[in-house]
Amino acid sequence: MIKLPYFDALLASLERGDPVVERAFGRHVHWGYWPEPQAAELTPEAFAAAAEALTREVCRAAAIGDGQRVLDAGCGFGGTVASLNENHAYMDLCGLNIDRRQLRRARRQVAARPGNRICFVAGDACALPFADRSFDAVVAVECIFHFPDRRRFFAEARRVLKPGGRLALSDFVSTAPLLPVTLWSRLGIGGGFYGRCDLSYTRGGYRRLAEAAGFVVETERDITAGTLPTYSFLRRFGGALQVDAAAIAETGFAELVSRLRLLRYMIYGFRAPDGNG
Ligand SMILES: C[S@@+](CC[C@H](N)C(=O)[O-])C[C@H]1O[C@@H](n2cnc3c(N)ncnc32)[C@H](O)[C@@H]1O
Repeated sequence: MIKLPYFDALLASLERGDPVVERAFGRHVHWGYWPEPQAAELTPEAFAAAAEALTREVCRAAAIGDGQRVLDAGCGFGGTVASLNENHAYMDLCGLNIDRRQLRRARRQVAARPGNRICFVAGDACALPFADRSFDAVVAVECIFHFPDRRRFFAEARRVLKPGGRLALSDFVSTAPLLPVTLWSRLGIGGGFYGRCDLSYTRGGYRRLAEAAGFVVETERDITAGTLPTYSFLRRFGGALQVDAAAIAETGFAELVSRLRLLRYMIYGFRAPDGNG
C-alpha cells in the first residue's frame, strides 16, 4: 500500500468536517493556477477556483472534446473527472487510483450527468487494467512523481490510447542545477509528508521519455509563475491540515526552489501517432 501522509491528513480533516479543507481540497488535490498571480486572492474558494483552472489547462493540453473516452490516472477525489463531466457531453470517464479510500470519496462526490458515464477503478497507473487502444485521452494531474516508474506509465498510456490519442499531465520538473538535490528522490527514500516523490525529471528527460514511448510532444508549458500563490495559500491555511514541522519544511523547500526557478511547474501534452502500434 502506498504511503501518502498528506492524504491521511486530508482524509482525517474531511472526516472531521473541516470547512477550509472541504472547500480548498475537497475536489482537487493539486496546486492552483492563477493566470494573473499578482492579483491572486488567498481564500479557500479562490484556491479551489485556481485548482479547477489548473485541471482545465491540463485537459486543454489533451485536446479533450465531447464524446470521448478519457482516463484520469491518479484521480484523487475525482476532481478532474467531475470537471470533464460538467463541461462535456456524451463522455465515458474513468478515474483510476491506487488508494481505495480516495476512490470511495470520489464515488460519493461525482455523479454522471445524463448522457455521460463515469467509473472509478482501483489500480496502478503503471499496470493499467484496460484494453489496448481503448481511450481517446489519458490525463495525469500532478501525480506522476508518485508513480513507481514514469517510463512504465508512458508505455502503458501509449498502449491504452487509440491512434492519434493524447496524454497530458502536469509535473514538477527539475533544472540541471537542482539535479544533485533531486536525484536521490528517484531512489524512493526519505518519503516524508508528501510520500515518495521522484522530482528528478528534467525537460530533456521528458523529451526522451516521449520519444522512447513513441509520442510527439505537442505542449510544453512552464506555468511556474502562475502556481506560486499556492505557497502563500498553504502558509495561511495549511494549519487546517494540522501538519507537522517536516511538512512545513518540505513545502518550504519546494517554494524556495520554485521561486528561484530551479524547479518548474510544467504542463505537457503528447500525441500518439495516427498509426498507433
Ligand atoms: C497530488 S494527488 C493528485 C490527485 C488528482 N490527480 C488531483 O489532481 O486532484 C496524487 C494522486 O496520485 C495517486 N497515485 C499515487 N501513486 C499512484 C499509482 N501508482 N497509481 C495510481 N494512482 C496513484 C494518489 O493516490 C493521489 O490520488
